[in-house]
Amino acid sequence: MSKKISFSLVGLLVFLMACRQTNPVKDEAHYTPTPYQLKVPSGLPSFSVPASNPMTVEGVQLGRMLFYEPLLSGDNTLSCASCHKLTYGMSDSTNKFSKGIDGIYGKKNAMPLFNLLWASKFFWNGRTSSLEEQALKPIQDVIEMHETLPNMVAELNQHAYYPALFKQAFGTSMITAELVGKAIAQFERTLLSFSSKFDFSNGGVSLTPSEYRGWQIFKGEASQHLTNPSLPPGGDCFHCHGGEGNPLFSTYEFFNNGLDSMPDSGYFSVTLNPADLGKFKAPSLRNLKYTAPYMHDGRFDSLEQVVRHYNSGVIYSSPNLDPNLKKHKTKPLLLEEQDIADLVNFLNTLNDEDFTKNNNFTNPFK
Ligand code: HEC
Ligand code: HEC
Repeated sequence: MSKKISFSLVGLLVFLMACRQTNPVKDEAHYTPTPYQLKVPSGLPSFSVPASNPMTVEGVQLGRMLFYEPLLSGDNTLSCASCHKLTYGMSDSTNKFSKGIDGIYGKKNAMPLFNLLWASKFFWNGRTSSLEEQALKPIQDVIEMHETLPNMVAELNQHAYYPALFKQAFGTSMITAELVGKAIAQFERTLLSFSSKFDFSNGGVSLTPSEYRGWQIFKGEASQHLTNPSLPPGGDCFHCHGGEGNPLFSTYEFFNNGLDSMPDSGYFSVTLNPADLGKFKAPSLRNLKYTAPYMHDGRFDSLEQVVRHYNSGVIYSSPNLDPNLKKHKTKPLLLEEQDIADLVNFLNTLNDEDFTKNNNFTNPFK
């Protein structure tokens, strides 16, 4: 190991080794993990943590180490954090696609990781339904980390300190792939991001006039200005991306937002229902400043391009195009330059810089 390990971590390890020597057999008897208290702001929808994987301080810390651990990849060069970088909202820098250990690029834009507690399906097409299960996929993906689970488990079991850390977190030093998934999932559930300008704006009241106008566009029906001329035209964004009453800024449901006439199969590949062809998970619109480029294939580099897509680029012939966009064929959004600028300014009030610098989420080996 050439890596530096922080002082507190070394202290913990020395302590763990000592425990191990004095009590080599009675694993279970010395399993006293500390429950992890999630600090979730009020006003959010309810969520649940699986009863089979309760969060503990020890489990979260171990999960954080595994998230940054290159041993989890075939040639020990790539960790989860290689493609999910904190400073980019836990997405892969400005890369459209991510490079795996064999130098091969994937075909989807790396998703940001935060507020995962509220999602029940993961990946752009929703192909896994728990974080525990999800974590083992990139490890085995041949164009990502290209490792086998038995190999990974063998390496961890022979490691200087992981057996002791697993014992501390799960009551056993016999490392399994399932426990690796559980630890990583525990860490991922702590990735909360609710400290944006908008969160402290008292429902939008303290935004600049342009940002506030953008908020009205975001949460408005396209035709709102026809019945109430004091309002700007609406953008219909809230239907799929939440907003008022839904501070997650996503419904985490699957929609076709009209990008292509012949879309990728998307959610269809999971449900095999033809009505799901071309549908993708609606992402949260928080932290967009850090997560460019946008969409499942990273086709847009700027938020202005995204808004122009909704305003005048939607492909109405796209199969299963969502009704909330299809209706613009006869009643176009007609956002003008100022409206587009205001909407983009509003989206930028959802950036949480503290999240991208949170010391609890940085590389624990540095
Ligand atoms: C080589 C780059 C790469 C590596 C390494 C990688 N990921 Fe990802 N991750 C991606 C991409 C790309 C996607 C989207 C893929 C898709 O939808 O098909 C993704 C999606 C995810 C999602 C789904 C998020 C959501 O909102 O649905 C989670 C969770 C995740 N990764 C966690 C991890 C974990 C945990 C590891 C390490 C065990 C990891 N990733 C390693 C690139 C990577
Ligand atoms: C019918 C549902 C729907 C509506 C309405 C909608 N979106 Fe989306 N949005 C989606 C889906 C689904 C995606 C992901 C599509 C994909 O990648 O294939 C998405 C992606 C995005 C992204 C890219 C996010 C990322 O991380 O890549 C942004 C930004 C965005 N939408 C903003 C908006 C704005 C602003 C509006 C209103 C003008 C809006 N959306 C209206 C469903 C919708």
